Amino acid sequence: MNKPAVVVDDVSKMFRIYHERNQSLKAALMRGRRAKYDEFWALKDVSLEIASGQTYGLVGHNGSGKSTLLKTMAKILRPDSGAVETNGKVSALLELGAGFHPELSGRDNVYLNGSILGLSKREIDAKFDDIVGFAGLEDFVDQPVKNYSSGMYVRLGFSIAINVDPEILMVDEILAVGDEEFQRRCMEKFKDFKDDGKTIIVVSHALGTVRTMCDEVAWLDHGRLVETGDPNTIIDKYTDVQVEKVAEAHQHDDDSADRQRTPGLLTLDGVELIGPDGEPTTTVRTGDEVRIRFDFEAKEDIRDDVVVAMWIHGSADGSNLTGPNTDDGGLPLRVSKGRGQVELTVPHLMLLPGVYEAGAAMTDPSRANHYDHKPGILRFTVQSGTPTERYGYFSLGGTWARTI
Ligand SMILES: Nc1ncnc2c1ncn2[C@@H]1O[C@H](COP(=O)(O)OP(=O)(O)OP(=O)(O)O)[C@@H](O)[C@H]1O
Ligand SMILES: [Mg+2]
Repeated sequence: MNKPAVVVDDVSKMFRIYHERNQSLKAALMRGRRAKYDEFWALKDVSLEIASGQTYGLVGHNGSGKSTLLKTMAKILRPDSGAVETNGKVSALLELGAGFHPELSGRDNVYLNGSILGLSKREIDAKFDDIVGFAGLEDFVDQPVKNYSSGMYVRLGFSIAINVDPEILMVDEILAVGDEEFQRRCMEKFKDFKDDGKTIIVVSHALGTVRTMCDEVAWLDHGRLVETGDPNTIIDKYTDVQVEKVAEAHQHDDDSADRQRTPGLLTLDGVELIGPDGEPTTTVRTGDEVRIRFDFEAKEDIRDDVVVAMWIHGSADGSNLTGPNTDDGGLPLRVSKGRGQVELTVPHLMLLPGVYEAGAAMTDPSRANHYDHKPGILRFTVQSGTPTERYGYFSLGGTWARTI
């Protein structure tokens, strides 16, 4: 039996949050030890085990403690209580630019980081071209890294991290940065790693990616471990909670005690993206006319009007981009027993190239009664089309003109 790659045993991590930030240095020194602070527990009693060879995901809301947990696993932070054991050589790609010296060139930083990660000069010499090549930074390697874009930082950091040949690779949110091409190459590298039996630990808001690449997922909430388990199960539960939070934020008047689910009465059976040729697809282009088709079935006539709602997020960082629904869209919906279908027609899809994930729900107009909701039911890719913009998630559809 192999030893587990990582054992996190009842780990807690506290940060001190100091107040009186604007005091002078002298005042701070005079006050000496009596500085006032609050204790903030970024991790509380977290225990988990990552088997050797597993690809393991950490998910949770912003500030839930994912990066802190990863840093304790990488031994960059020391827990206040509990212990972390790792078996195998660790290479970690943490926050953007961590470990880089801004004034040094890319080349010098490769040597600096390589030696920190335990490589000799000769070993780095041998890997140098691979590192720079994978990062695609051949033309920039002699410039100081302070001139690099955030994408360039991440590419170089990732490239070093994978080329030092670790047994355990830890990466924090690299998929949020970098273009589609780089993300694709990272995924290929992850796959090679996995095939070689190495352990990968990823922190990511890209839930679709976590679902497909991870063998197991841990869900953190306010520094506590909620649950670990199969990626689909955990991510469904996690997104359910997110959806409930959004629904609650929308629901001012309704007493939450009235809120009940009616399982099985009305089910959303499928959500499909229909391309310009009228066929279901998962790949479209910016500017395409597309339709999103929702199929549902009611066990009996539904008394209230029904609202079909969807939300789309960028799979790179999980940010919520838009949430069209039949209510805002002015389509009153009476549902009687049997099957039904609605479509949302989008004359010009303004999403820019990237991978997107959509969830959908059927509720009553007050949003108090969720008949069914399906987070992550649709995942699709948008390829370059018209307009040909590259940055961000969507185009404003504007036109440029010189006016002076
Ligand atoms: N050095 C620090 N000093 C004080 N508080 C910190 C420090 N590092 C993290 N925190 C706090 O600990 C909590 C957990 O932070 P952490 O960065 O681990 O969250 P996260 O899950 O990675 O969030 P995100 O999804 O936004 O990256 C946050 O409230 C954060 O503000
Ligand atoms: Mg983080």
